[in-house]
Amino acid sequence: MPVTTIDTIAALRAELDAARADGRTVGFVPTMGYLHAGHGALMAAARARHDLFVTSIFVNPLQFAPTEDLAAYPRDLDRDRALAAHHGVDLLFTPTVDEMYPGGPVLTTVSVAEVSAPLEGRTRPTHLAGVATVVAKLFSIVGPCHAYFGEKDWQQLAVIRRMALDLSIPVEVVGCPTVREPDGLALSSRNAYLTPEERAAAPVVHAALLAGRLAVDAGERDPARVRAMLVELIGAEPLAELDYAEIVDAATLQPVDPLAGELRLLAAVRFGRARLIDNIGASVT
Ligand code: PAJ
Repeated sequence: MPVTTIDTIAALRAELDAARADGRTVGFVPTMGYLHAGHGALMAAARARHDLFVTSIFVNPLQFAPTEDLAAYPRDLDRDRALAAHHGVDLLFTPTVDEMYPGGPVLTTVSVAEVSAPLEGRTRPTHLAGVATVVAKLFSIVGPCHAYFGEKDWQQLAVIRRMALDLSIPVEVVGCPTVREPDGLALSSRNAYLTPEERAAAPVVHAALLAGRLAVDAGERDPARVRAMLVELIGAEPLAELDYAEIVDAATLQPVDPLAGELRLLAAVRFGRARLIDNIGASVT
């Protein structure tokens, strides 16, 4: 069935309010498009649980710094429409930048202080506030729903959970496991930037994270030693340029020493033009 595409906030609100008034539940999957099987897994989760399921495609300028890849970010709306239909999307919301930011540059932003500060926050200081602001807008537009996000962007998921809690937003945030290539590379729209050599080297990130988790499983409780192991393994790959590799508390993203409780190992690594992020969980009980 062809997907119904909506590009105004008012029309989307009207559709979703009418659906809820009829007693239907709404599932929501926000994306920046160039859809792949990672997005597909979120869509399958939403499709399975809701009567009405909406996906948004909006490349949000607010979450890109002036030096980043906003203009180059891969886009293919025709292909995305076909994939959305394949995944059973009922409504595809594709607003323009003017529709989303009618007042020009936004004066009101949402920032989730401590959760945004480490890791991504150090290299991309405005990124997570840009994400939180657009997701707050999307939640306000879509209204009460379950919203599905990938664990692939773990810090983003933590920021959005905390934002919904702090601002009493009536949206249930659901995290879904990371979808990977058979060699462990996490699917990402930015993998399109990798040369064949970089693509062959990129699984080192997941392999290093797995080795770090194994060390924790084997009894390592010193975060500095786990970090050193990640740095060494990723550093051994000549095409990889490490941005960060850390093991932190899974919910607060703050350091834990000695390692205890629910933990997350996270890394950001550049391969040529592509900056890839990945993470996995570990626990010490
Ligand atoms: P985008 O990168 O398009 O990702 C949309 C959603 O797909 C996010 O929740 C992301 O975590 C999830 N995702 C991406 N790759 C995945 C993978 N390999 N496995 C599982 N889930 C995956 O993240 C954004 O867009 C934006 O920041 C957004 C939240 C839409 C706000 O603009």
